[in-house]
Amino acid sequence: MEANFKILRFDPEKDAKPHFQEFNLDTPKGMTLLDALRTLKAEQDGSLTFRWSCASSICGSCAVTVNGQNKLACKTQVAAVLSDPVLVEPLAGFPVIKDLVVDWEPLFATIEAMEPYLINDEEPPEQEWLQDRQVRQTYDDVAQCILCGSCSSSCPVGWTDRRYLGPAALAKAWRFVTDDRDRATGERLDRVNNEFGVWRCRTIFRCKDACPKYIDTTGAIERLRQAIVRYELKGRV
Ligand code: F3S
Repeated sequence: MEANFKILRFDPEKDAKPHFQEFNLDTPKGMTLLDALRTLKAEQDGSLTFRWSCASSICGSCAVTVNGQNKLACKTQVAAVLSDPVLVEPLAGFPVIKDLVVDWEPLFATIEAMEPYLINDEEPPEQEWLQDRQVRQTYDDVAQCILCGSCSSSCPVGWTDRRYLGPAALAKAWRFVTDDRDRATGERLDRVNNEFGVWRCRTIFRCKDACPKYIDTTGAIERLRQAIVRYELKGRV
């Protein structure tokens, strides 16, 4: 099946502003968008630039916007997004380095600010910190995050105010707040209990819809809000 791709191109060394370039490609059944991009680069334009690594929906590096929706190129079959044209753009809300490659540093900075590791200065047990099975289930989904940026990139609040922590960082905060092995709950909640944290979210749900791992980021933000209130009233989440 012949597909017409319209891909947003931008080379900071040559272009004053981004522009669309059209490509036609025969796309056999089962071809993913990543396969298509690789074929276009190999056969039609070697300067086409995009990021990918595992091609297995694990590394998150091939996230792009397809027909206005954020998707992993490796997980998206061309047939599933086929339109005339198939519009491919870099993730919104991040600075573009070249073509479909964005600078994820702003995203990583917000994640890093959440201290995404267990904080516990108690004497460690002889073998390991055991995780309560039921507690683990409370953050099963957010633990699947692959840092692709699809959620934060799709949030309109983040487009207008880069100080907003965004759904990726807030979901990460929830993952550690709810972990019973962690001892920094108060500090973690303080960090998100402000105008650029959970209270800036407008419950728009676009982040949840965009997640290729089906993480309920909107729900995680809501649970963080509830945890803040419980912690202030009862001293525990
Ligand atoms: Fe944005 Fe998601 Fe909240 S799209 S406003 S972070 S529910």
